[in-house]
Amino acid sequence: MAPIIQVESLVKKFGELPAVNGISFSVESGAIFGFLGPNGAGKSTTIKMLATLLKPTSGKATLAGFDINSQSNQVRQSIGLVFQDPSLDIRLTADENLQFHAMLYNVPKDVFAARCEQVLRMVDLLDRRSSPVSTFSGGMKRRLEIARGLLHHPKVLFLDEPTLGLDPQTRNAIWHHVRKLRDEVFGGGEFCRWVGCELDRGERVSFSLCLNGLDQKHTTAQSDAQCHCAFLAK
Ligand SMILES: Nc1ncnc2c1ncn2[C@@H]1O[C@H](COP(=O)(O)OP(=O)(O)OP(=O)(O)O)[C@@H](O)[C@H]1O
Ligand SMILES: [Mg+2]
Repeated sequence: MAPIIQVESLVKKFGELPAVNGISFSVESGAIFGFLGPNGAGKSTTIKMLATLLKPTSGKATLAGFDINSQSNQVRQSIGLVFQDPSLDIRLTADENLQFHAMLYNVPKDVFAARCEQVLRMVDLLDRRSSPVSTFSGGMKRRLEIARGLLHHPKVLFLDEPTLGLDPQTRNAIWHHVRKLRDEVFGGGEFCRWVGCELDRGERVSFSLCLNGLDQKHTTAQSDAQCHCAFLAK
């Protein structure tokens, strides 16, 4: 089977700054894929290019068979995205945030109610669905963002450091939900997880990882991250 994500020599420059410096990798269907690198290494920039929010300076990539440069609409329909920075509307309830997302992603009206219940149950927020998000804790907000990212049944879910700034207990709870999602929603099908450098040893998730091709000045830190990951993958 063709990889769900295929990236070849992807480059992003901001002026003279090479934020992503010719990265190449592929992700197989069903993989939970960790993407590690120190601050400023280019992780979020790579995700934004794959999500078609930023145009690459050069290189190419396909996601679910669609070209990120020429088939951005199809790529966007194929992905769910949990941003590094929170992006919920805290004045709305959990339900209302999901309704808004469903409109943007053309989730059919007749499946919305069931989908909404499914994803809220999965992240243990069903009983808080009518509460304004402003009353949620940090961990609850992150879980709601994950639920929202899944509402339109994407083929690939990007999670850009979804546990950043959370306490160890909440981080564990979120990774627990991520593993559950892979089993329940994706059923071993296409699934991709992206992380930052925030993993710790308590988060025992097996994953493959990508370290090559990031900004060369970070080579040493990447090696450290690789050791850390090898430990986690056991
Ligand atoms: N819109 C932008 N304009 C100019 N430079 C940018 C822009 N976005 C990112 N950069 C630069 O590109 C580099 C990579 O940034 P990026 O956000 O991708 O890193 P990251 O690996 O996600 O880091 P972190 O772990 O801190 O989230 C950084 O040097 C950053 O300053
Ligand atoms: Mg980032």
